[in-house]
Amino acid sequence: MLSTQLLSWYSKNKRDLPWRLTKDPYKIWISEIMLQQTQVVTVIPYYKKWMNSFPDIQTLANADYNYVLKHWEGLGYYSRCKNIHLTANALDNNFPNTFNELIRLPGIGEYTAKTILAIAFNQPEVGVDTNLERIGFRLLGLKKKSKFNNNRVKKFLETKQDQTNPGDFNQALMDLGSNFCQAKAVDCDPCPITSHCKATSKESPLDYPEIKKSKPIPEIKVAVCIIFYNKKLLLMQRPTNKMLGGLWEFPGGKIEVGELKKDAVIREIKEETNLSIKSVEYIGEVKHQYSHFKVTISLFSHNIDNINSLKIKENYIWTTMKGLNKFALPKANYKMLELLNKNI
Ligand code: ADE
Repeated sequence: MLSTQLLSWYSKNKRDLPWRLTKDPYKIWISEIMLQQTQVVTVIPYYKKWMNSFPDIQTLANADYNYVLKHWEGLGYYSRCKNIHLTANALDNNFPNTFNELIRLPGIGEYTAKTILAIAFNQPEVGVDTNLERIGFRLLGLKKKSKFNNNRVKKFLETKQDQTNPGDFNQALMDLGSNFCQAKAVDCDPCPITSHCKATSKESPLDYPEIKKSKPIPEIKVAVCIIFYNKKLLLMQRPTNKMLGGLWEFPGGKIEVGELKKDAVIREIKEETNLSIKSVEYIGEVKHQYSHFKVTISLFSHNIDNINSLKIKENYIWTTMKGLNKFALPKANYKMLELLNKNI
């Protein structure tokens, strides 16, 4: 039977991962949210640090959001962190153990709900992420990505679920996805369920399912200024409902078509802080790539000697260089600080 072969392989070969030492639904939930769109090796140190600081829901719910966000700094997709904090505040000590309760919580979708139910509550659900979906497509020998086929895969995996160890079944498939059955590489011989797989005997198993061509990544140009006042620098907090929500950054914004970098940064500073600046000092260029676009940042600095006309709608702070480590900043801002330090 597929599940017997899979679980027997898993018991001997499973990856030794920190969230596999527990069935605490809180810890499983945090690990599963961290693991969305993020590799296991990246998540491990974040998970450990998080559990040191927030060992249970109550500690997390009571923590200041800037402190919580600092623990997510660098993991990306920051709305995940916001939703975790919202959910922690919505829950009491009883972690919900039904699909209908879980799915209503911020940031918990079908995959996360079913995975928590399987791993933490031993319920025979299958959380199907892109890895499990790919394995299902290959097992069934399906090529075409469609709602219909996606549902077939979900139903199929549910029929194969192990009734006594559903959490292990889910996690064993995850390990197959990372060991033998990757999107762009397969290693079918050592796979414990290769005898159940239709794609393995095809000329090119990687075509199951077909891979959509990725779109070219757009590039945007922005101008940013590190403003100093009394040896402190200005940080502004991004709105929580936007990309990089809640993170702190230097003022700046998009350079418009035909606009000079310097004019763009002076305009942005005026719009964001009401400061009228005549000149800025050019520091250099920083490049950064996000998942859906690339950005080229022209970096400037400027010293001001009074802040009487400062008017900022968003949260902002003046911080020393040392004080920066209390705040979560986007990676690109650290690249800017590095460039600034080289130029001092
Ligand atoms: N990816 C998503 N969830 C995972 C888990 N529990 N273990 C390993 N990789 C995963």
